[in-house]
Amino acid sequence: MTKAYLNCLLKFTFFIFLSLQISCKQKEDAYKFTIGFAQTGFDDDWRKAMNQSMRIQADFNPNIDLVIMDGEDDVDNQIEDIEQLIKKGVDVLIVSPVKSKPITPIVKRAYNKGIPVLIVDRKIEGSEYTAYLGADNLQVGTDAANYLASITSEKSYILEIKGLPGSSPALERSLGFNNVIKKNNHLEVIQSIDSNWESYSITDTLRKVLDETKSINYIFAHNDRLALGAWEVLKEKGLQNDIKIIGVDGLSGPNGGIQLVQEGIFMATILYPTGGDEAMKLASSILNGQTVPKNNILKTIVIDSRNADIMKNQYDKIAQHQKDIENQQNKLKRQEKIYSTQSNILKLLLGLLIISVLLGAYSIYSSYNLKKKKRELELQNKKITIQRNQIRKIADEVKKSNDAKVNFFTGLSHEFKTPITLILSSVETLSDNKALKDNKLLREIGLIFNNSKRLLRLINQLLDFRKIEDRKFTLRASETNLFEFTKTIFRDFEREAQKRNINFSLVCNNEALSVFIDRNLMDKVYFNLLSNAFKFTPNNGRIHIEIVDDEIGNCVKIYFKDSGIGIPGKELDNVFKVFYQGSNNNKPSSGIGLHLSKEFVDMHSGNISVKSKNGTEFEITLPKGKAHLASEEIIQEPDVIYDSGLKLNESDFESERFEQESLPLNPDDVYSVLVIEDNIDLIQYIKGKLQNEFQVYLSNGTDAIEKALEHVPDVIICDVNLPDKDGFEICEILKNDLRTSHIPTIILTALDAKDSYLKGLQSGADLYLTKPFSFRILFQSIKTLLYNREKLRYYYINNIHKINSNETFGSQEQDFIAQMNHIINDNLDNSNFSVEQLAENLNVSRVQLYRKVKAILGVSISDYIQNMRMEKAKSLLETSGLSISEIAYATGFSSPSYFSTNFKNTYKITPKAFRNKS
Ligand code: FRU
Repeated sequence: MTKAYLNCLLKFTFFIFLSLQISCKQKEDAYKFTIGFAQTGFDDDWRKAMNQSMRIQADFNPNIDLVIMDGEDDVDNQIEDIEQLIKKGVDVLIVSPVKSKPITPIVKRAYNKGIPVLIVDRKIEGSEYTAYLGADNLQVGTDAANYLASITSEKSYILEIKGLPGSSPALERSLGFNNVIKKNNHLEVIQSIDSNWESYSITDTLRKVLDETKSINYIFAHNDRLALGAWEVLKEKGLQNDIKIIGVDGLSGPNGGIQLVQEGIFMATILYPTGGDEAMKLASSILNGQTVPKNNILKTIVIDSRNADIMKNQYDKIAQHQKDIENQQNKLKRQEKIYSTQSNILKLLLGLLIISVLLGAYSIYSSYNLKKKKRELELQNKKITIQRNQIRKIADEVKKSNDAKVNFFTGLSHEFKTPITLILSSVETLSDNKALKDNKLLREIGLIFNNSKRLLRLINQLLDFRKIEDRKFTLRASETNLFEFTKTIFRDFEREAQKRNINFSLVCNNEALSVFIDRNLMDKVYFNLLSNAFKFTPNNGRIHIEIVDDEIGNCVKIYFKDSGIGIPGKELDNVFKVFYQGSNNNKPSSGIGLHLSKEFVDMHSGNISVKSKNGTEFEITLPKGKAHLASEEIIQEPDVIYDSGLKLNESDFESERFEQESLPLNPDDVYSVLVIEDNIDLIQYIKGKLQNEFQVYLSNGTDAIEKALEHVPDVIICDVNLPDKDGFEICEILKNDLRTSHIPTIILTALDAKDSYLKGLQSGADLYLTKPFSFRILFQSIKTLLYNREKLRYYYINNIHKINSNETFGSQEQDFIAQMNHIINDNLDNSNFSVEQLAENLNVSRVQLYRKVKAILGVSISDYIQNMRMEKAKSLLETSGLSISEIAYATGFSSPSYFSTNFKNTYKITPKAFRNKS
């Protein structure tokens, strides 16, 4: 629309300009006439004067265009000129015919064509022309003869130099002259010579005539140029004073007839006016439609020494006048030019004005259009917004429904985990059943166990996939001995390798190498790669794990090579893509295992790649150190302790492990574990697993605190989702209670979100394990925690003397011991001071005190007090001057002999001997 309008505007502007131009042109053309003048020739001054006067006249009238053609004094040229002027379509044709006869037909043609024809100076034959203008040449001849007759009465001989034969002036001038001469007897034309109007044409003839005829007194030349030429010949002959000359034309100006008369060169000249201005005036009248006389005769007079000056003055005045007119005309032309420039500027301005008006109109139109468009766009925008909102709503609904489905799916998967864990535990319980020993059902049970494990792994993979998709995984990397870690998983597959006669090996070039890995995730990566290797490697094949500590690359490379079916080369790029299924793989596969493996390795800033040649080789590269990890990604975990006694997985499901019997335990010899869990099946499962090695106490959660305070166990395993208080609360309470604060606590839950993990740590838990937990890891964790506590205990024992109330170590346990030491120290000389009294002072029960001290220090509280008394006695024996009896009472012994017996029992030396020795 806009483009079309602009186009239209441009066209319109162009049209306006064109109209302006045309209107001006038309204005000029409306009055413009062309007058064509076929001039005889341009060479002589008379013709030049004639042309000049015509041009001046033409200039007076801007509507007249004057075209003068040069006939070069040649008839044929002139005929051609006239033809051209006819063709040009001149409005008036002026002709000064070179000769009369040959020019007549072409003039006739023009006249008959309707072109007004004005004959000037020389005549044509007939009367087929509009008008004639010129002096009367008969009269010119007559005047010349009469003048001669008037100045002399003596017999005089005259030489006549005539003009061009065939031209009317030559004819008429001669005729008029001779007519008068004949009438005067004393005058005689003794010779006539012809010319072409120019002097060169007569000089030779004249010389001859003068030589032959000595009596010539006068020369009558038909024009001043012929007369001057004659004078020059006379001068040549020295006759210039003897023979007088009469010319024709009487031009003013240098070498003009008037000047030559003034100078005495000519006796006289007959004025023959050019009639240039009169011819133009006559042509104008013809153009104006006026009727003009056919014959327009110009006046002629004789100019001799008597009137030459006047004539000269007259002509000078006329010339001056003409010059003024010319100046005026030039001024006028300049004015016209200025006018035309201004008029052009005006036109341009007018044009610009029109354009600006049009542009203004266009801008109004555009703004209107824009507003309209804007309104339309706003409307459209509104519609789009509504549609977008609708789409958003639909998308939200779809998302909600999708989320609901996925949540349902995820929840369901979570739900699957506990029953499968229970199936597994039940299978294990069955396996422990003596009645099943040697029973064929054992194989079936193994099948259930293996498949339940597999199902559990698949569910875990699905949940992991969902977590990866939601970017919910957080790396929990801990410093791990890679060889030990690999070895524990390696062992899980060893049995299967044996069974299928697969050459299964593990080598490592640096068994002490530690890397920061998320054990849980890396366990899954290993498991996936090894499961695949075993899945696709035929019996009697080879599977090889190699760990290479690449010191130069500051990384570690783990290779998993197998001699299986391999992966087709063109599919290698796709193996880590989700839902990839090898084209040569007929075994069922979810297609997410390798995808997850890659994601997990990527999370470690590592890399996993695959090659396939005579089997498959996966290469995992992990960076060493922890610079690539964020601080929140690093956690503390117990060292991996490779425990060859722990094995429970599908490949290990061999009949011999079902033969193991649980041995009755002596509670004093073993560590105790309190399991807080409300799922009866699970609690029984854990109990079943642990009771061979530990004294196991159980709580369904409702009495967790009471049970913990009652038994003060060595380790607590606590679920999170419990009926009364949740696991985090229980843990917090126990950790804040002096009586139980020392007990290592493991939180065991199906919740594995990052928040829950953090909450677990905040509550003071020592470990956080997610369900379904690997019993192997749980067992190992308990052992590690106990081992760590043993180390702590060792520390306390060796630093017991340092721990007093004046020093605070920060930990609750240290505070407890410091407080306890303080109370004991205060009562060292009190033989009645009892454990009950101490417990009362510490606000704990006797049993709790006993258990706590036993747990922290590894000795009974009474032994501990006794120990302190002995230490004090020892120091008094060494440093004080007190007697042994006094020392015995000062350290709370009721009798010195009892003190001595005890001292000897403890230090294998009597107090007396000890003092002497020291
Ligand atoms: C000019 C001229 C004049 C003469 C006239 C006759 O060409 O020769 O000198 O008077 O022509 O036509």
